[in-house]
Amino acid sequence: MSDVAKRNAAEAALKLVEPGMILGLGTGSTAAIFVKLLAEKVKAGLSITGTPTSEATDKLARSLGIRIVSPDELSRIDLTIDGADEFDPKLNLIKGGGAALLREKIIAEASDRMVVITDPTKQVQVLGKFPLPVEINSFGSELTRRRIHTRLDEIGLGDAKSSWRMATAESLLHTDGGHLILDLACGQIPDVAGLGALLDDLPGVVEHGLFIGYASQVIVGEDAGARIVGIS
Ligand code: 5RP
Repeated sequence: MSDVAKRNAAEAALKLVEPGMILGLGTGSTAAIFVKLLAEKVKAGLSITGTPTSEATDKLARSLGIRIVSPDELSRIDLTIDGADEFDPKLNLIKGGGAALLREKIIAEASDRMVVITDPTKQVQVLGKFPLPVEINSFGSELTRRRIHTRLDEIGLGDAKSSWRMATAESLLHTDGGHLILDLACGQIPDVAGLGALLDDLPGVVEHGLFIGYASQVIVGEDAGARIVGIS
């Protein structure tokens, strides 16, 4: 995705922001562009409060002068703007390419609206081309991995491959919450809700990157502008 397209998506999302709003601030390169554009508005006098979905976004937003509060101080959020790795016609998402899926889902769930900013390459008919990130507690992580594969086999996804996300060639990546990320290459996911429920049912799974029913709109940035995709 070109930076122009990302910026066009972020600019379109900025039009949804109203004075006084509490905003969930997403994670990733597209969300970072949104945060930078938002900061320009704040400098010009817009009064909003942000709450971040990752340490990286927290740091970026604060460095640009955006008022940030911890989610602990909130009961709800007006609008969350975040990126995604894939979206389908029902606006179900795969998220977690930036390893922030747990915090992103906590913020999205508490939001009156979640609007996704993305590009055309992330639009798919069926989720699953992008390996599904799954956040795993480090206790018994290999056991949890094997339990996931056993359960996938039971629902016909026995060919799925998984790999631990690495921070460097030698060391595993740890999320902001200190967990591991297992990237699950399932191929096309025929039953998104079923897979989500299967993963929710496993105790070692902290959270997964299927965002089902969270997004109300996806803004697809293109080189010449942006288009809005609603739920079809
Ligand atoms: C982070 C995410 C990101 O929103 C997703 O990976 C998209 O990132 P980008 O805008 O850089 O393509 O889910 O966990």
